[in-house]
Amino acid sequence: MPRVRILDRSGQVLAEAELAAGAALAEAARAAGLPLPFGCLQARCGVCRVRLRAGSLAPPETLEALGLRSLAAPPEQRLACQARIGEGAVDLEAAGAAAAPRDGD
Ligand code: FES
Repeated sequence: MPRVRILDRSGQVLAEAELAAGAALAEAARAAGLPLPFGCLQARCGVCRVRLRAGSLAPPETLEALGLRSLAAPPEQRLACQARIGEGAVDLEAAGAAAAPRDGD
């Protein structure tokens, strides 16, 4: 199972878990107790945005792609409420409304 790590802005690992490839990131992260914020769970609010720091998730499906576009999210961001875990390890940083803004966001 791929290792999913949650990092803070400085790159420190806050939490990690091995999650099943193909699983919905939101559900798997919640079940594993990973510290990711969620809101609407419908690709609308952007609270669940994560920044990919390393690795990759499965390609966005239609609802996530529409949500990312409506939120004007940069290419390195994904919606954790819609994304599915890929085949390999991934490092993520929370980047939604609960995360502090950074230059370029
Ligand atoms: S929880 Fe609202 S967009 Fe993902």
